[in-house]
Amino acid sequence: MKHLLSAADPSREEVITILDTAESMATTQSRQVKKLPTLRGKTVVNLFFEDSTRTRISFETAAKRLSADVINFTAKGSSVSKGESLKDTALTLGAMGADAVVIRHSSSGASHRLAYGGWIDIPVLNAGDGTHQHPTQSLLDAMTLRRHFLGHKGGELFGKGIDGAHVVIVGDILHSRVARSNVNMLHTLGAHVTLVGPPTLMPVGVEGWTCDVSYDFDKALATEPDAVMMLRVQNERMSAAGGGYFPSVGEYHRVYGLTKDRLYSMKDSAIVMHPGPMNRGLEICAEAADCAQSVIVEQVENGVNVRMAVLYLLLASEGGLL
Ligand code: CP
Repeated sequence: MKHLLSAADPSREEVITILDTAESMATTQSRQVKKLPTLRGKTVVNLFFEDSTRTRISFETAAKRLSADVINFTAKGSSVSKGESLKDTALTLGAMGADAVVIRHSSSGASHRLAYGGWIDIPVLNAGDGTHQHPTQSLLDAMTLRRHFLGHKGGELFGKGIDGAHVVIVGDILHSRVARSNVNMLHTLGAHVTLVGPPTLMPVGVEGWTCDVSYDFDKALATEPDAVMMLRVQNERMSAAGGGYFPSVGEYHRVYGLTKDRLYSMKDSAIVMHPGPMNRGLEICAEAADCAQSVIVEQVENGVNVRMAVLYLLLASEGGLL
């Protein structure tokens, strides 16, 4: 595999290799000197056509910790605002000698176009394309879940997968590349996923996905899931489509929000996840975001480990990823 475009692409064996490599990277990050010489002389371009905090900064941190040179490109302030196309931007980057491109774009399929458009011949890593995929988010979620389920103690893991775990993913499924990627990734790793949300925020054809679907959050919680992943309500995509997906913020929070009561109904060992950025008071209350069961900060930390692993596997070995 030369590129990382979709969470559906890697096999279980490949995912486990990525997660094991991320664990090795994590052990290096607790050292006083965090930098490894692995990608010295390589140049990674971060191409962000859409806003990002976690993904952009963690890809940059990951590349720098591996000693790569990093060029950060954001659409705002570049010639894209003058109408330059993705093709011409790609050709420019190729001419500058980039060794890999990390791309976030508001259009589903943009990373695939960049990888297979014939414009550049370097690894492409999808950092989120429209409502389609966000593979490194699902990898960092898998790493977080695996650590939790397998008991992470002093850097030692007890087992390999997360088979049989039940993960409930709640909220704006329609606009969520995180939900799509996690359904793929968690299925590959043998976990059971239930998607929960209002009918207006469920994609057409969701019944055919490798997961269960529910419109009742309380019923899903009554099954005592091992993890509850809350999704951001993507107001910007809803406004662009004219809005009207739910009656009010209060109504959404009451029916689909992780409230204090719902948090207290979860079993003690269950964890609370959120990919960020969070709308506190909408999909998640502050108590749930900050509670002892919340692994939201751990997810961000694992983002660096996982992105170091995929950059290493894509750029440091001749055959590409694995
Ligand atoms: N989870 C995630 O993709 O966050 P950012 O949009 O901040 O990168």
